[in-house]
Amino acid sequence: SSNGNTEKERTLAMIKPDGVVGNYSEAIRKVVVDSGFSICKEMTIQLDEDRASIFYSEHSSKSFFSSLIRYMTSGPVLVMVLEKDNAITDWRTLIGPTDASKAKITHPHSIRAMCGQDSQRNCVHGSDSLQSAEREISFFFDDKYSCETVTIHDEL
Ligand code: PPS
Repeated sequence: SSNGNTEKERTLAMIKPDGVVGNYSEAIRKVVVDSGFSICKEMTIQLDEDRASIFYSEHSSKSFFSSLIRYMTSGPVLVMVLEKDNAITDWRTLIGPTDASKAKITHPHSIRAMCGQDSQRNCVHGSDSLQSAEREISFFFDDKYSCETVTIHDEL
């Protein structure tokens, strides 16, 4: 890059409860890898109300906040650190617009079109800036400087 930093960019991707429960994790991981991202780290975690509220604190004044927190604590989520050039923007492009019902019409090949339903049950999350990516990665993972590529094992 122009600042001489040769490290690739990282973003935080999350498969939300509807994606995990709907069994979309493998299909999404395949799209991730086929799109040129490395999966550095991943973890399945059940968020509690406190953790989910901190993660989404920038939306605490929104009318949908309590509903969002109830939904995000309704089941496990799969969080992944993805790495590639331009990872933050490229992952946001790949997932499509927030409202999955609109994504199905305007971005039919997006991940949210594939597995989301609406603005809340939209299957996946992606960091929206470099600052959020750094905050969100360190929210879930402590050793942010090592990136051991996770190997995907095909099911037999
Ligand atoms: S906003 O208002 O523009 O900041 O909202 P947006 O960036 O589109 O969405 C922020 C996150 O809030 C979720 N969201 C909702 N949850 C429940 N109900 C409604 N109506 C709703 N609208 C937006 C949305 O899924 C976003 O979650 P993340 O995980 O950040 O994608």
